[in-house]
Amino acid sequence: MKRDFLTLPDFNETEMLRLLDRAIEMKKTKDRGGVSLAGRSVGLIFEKASTRTRASFEAAVYQLGAHPIYMNLNDLQLGRGETVADTARVLSSYLDAIIIRTFAHERIEEFARHSRVPVINGLTDRHHPCQGLADLMTMLEKKGRLEGLKVAYIGDGNNVANSLIQGTSMMKMDLSIACPEGFEPDPLVLENAMKSARSEIVVLREPREAAGRSDVIYTDVWVSMGQEQKAGDKKNRFKNYQINDALLACAKPDAIVMHCLPAHRGEEITDEVLDGPRSVVFEQAENRLYTGKALLETLLMNLNV
Ligand code: CP
Ligand code: NVA
Repeated sequence: MKRDFLTLPDFNETEMLRLLDRAIEMKKTKDRGGVSLAGRSVGLIFEKASTRTRASFEAAVYQLGAHPIYMNLNDLQLGRGETVADTARVLSSYLDAIIIRTFAHERIEEFARHSRVPVINGLTDRHHPCQGLADLMTMLEKKGRLEGLKVAYIGDGNNVANSLIQGTSMMKMDLSIACPEGFEPDPLVLENAMKSARSEIVVLREPREAAGRSDVIYTDVWVSMGQEQKAGDKKNRFKNYQINDALLACAKPDAIVMHCLPAHRGEEITDEVLDGPRSVVFEQAENRLYTGKALLETLLMNLNV
């Protein structure tokens, strides 16, 4: 049976740990001669801009011996009104997996319902699970464990925050989210994670309180793709939520700083912090390649199932 990856809980904890171990192994061996997916084709449908997700998945597909086919909305009849369902039926008769970056999460769910092959979420307005995989891998590499780690997410309760909530909760990590009132993560995602009681998840207003208790300090842009028009005075509302040296002074001395990138330098994070010794953001970005490879291998070769 085909298996999709639309949100992190599409894998259980054991499967997730196995995938992360595989990604770490792939990174160590720098294996580029893979032929595990030889003869296969993987589609990438992107309705929003991307640097990391597109390039890392294209490279991952190629390194596994398969062929990537990138399509943006202008290339597809989808952009001229062909339905999601018809597009999914047709493309899944040619391709072996399809990676999609789109707006409404319901759109990828609809695509997946009509696709005969695995669909991978390359970001929707609500979730960014592929980023979540690289985030967990980076924390595991840097801290040597996941269970029991304390993470602070400081900023907008967006797609990246929602996936971080699901990832930390699954791996029994504690998460403190600091955001202005009205910018909390998805209530259902929060409720489910809080219900699972595998970890402590709290929503705070004070960034220093979140930073002070954490091993990892994470942020993302204040205005996500597609929200530019309705951002209003959002940057003003978030000005106390910047990750800067003053905030880091309240953190544990060995706390690391993460950001999914792209960063808006000088807004949610300063140059000094992003380029400073505690930042692991470029390794985090690099890990998109290895987690992407491990994910494709898992779904296409039916590993873990
Ligand atoms: N972090 C991330 O998904 O980056 P891109 O938007 O460049 O793909
Ligand atoms: N929250 C950001 C993440 C980009 C990778 C966005 O959706 O634009």
